Amino acid sequence: MGKYVVPPLPYSYDALEPHIDAKTMEIHYTKHHQAYADGLNAALQSINALTHKNYIIGILSDLTTIPENVRSSINFHGGGFENHRLFWESMKPNGGGEPGGRLADEIKIYFGSFKEFKEKFSTGTAAIQGSGWGWLVYNQTFSRIEFRTTENQTSPYTQRAIPLLGLDVWEHAYYLKYQNRRPDYIEAWWNVVNWTEVEERFLRVAT
Ligand SMILES: [Fe+2]
Repeated sequence: MGKYVVPPLPYSYDALEPHIDAKTMEIHYTKHHQAYADGLNAALQSINALTHKNYIIGILSDLTTIPENVRSSINFHGGGFENHRLFWESMKPNGGGEPGGRLADEIKIYFGSFKEFKEKFSTGTAAIQGSGWGWLVYNQTFSRIEFRTTENQTSPYTQRAIPLLGLDVWEHAYYLKYQNRRPDYIEAWWNVVNWTEVEERFLRVAT
């Protein structure tokens, strides 16, 4: 691996309006995501590992492969880099609705219905204290989907879970438009979820 580079945003800054405003998207993508990439590169450089043989997902999945003194920094910046990469891909203009296929079946099995899943995800993510993420993950140990939350930029990969859908509830993700109304931001975000992408992600990892 060489230096980590923030991948291109798959749509324009204003593409997710009115649910996510253009200014927030621009700052979030050009400043915050970039800062995680820079922090990750700096942490890897400090241990002469900018050419680490594993991609960041592999490193996060087993933080013992890197020296202890940079684990917390890699967890934060590496998690931030990968979480945001996945976040942009998980949204699209005119998204929303419900997933189909096998993922829809799994949601019914483990949450009762899509409505119950959405409620659990929204309520659980709104209740995160401080900064963090709400996730739909695939738990590899038990071969099932689950709702989880993580603090700050911790990636589900560090918990042996594969992220399928993630929602950033750091204030930088919504404060310009929604101020303290995190539940309103979450409700609006469902309208831009790219379920096609999430379904494909699920099919790639589900056994
Ligand atoms: Fe963010």
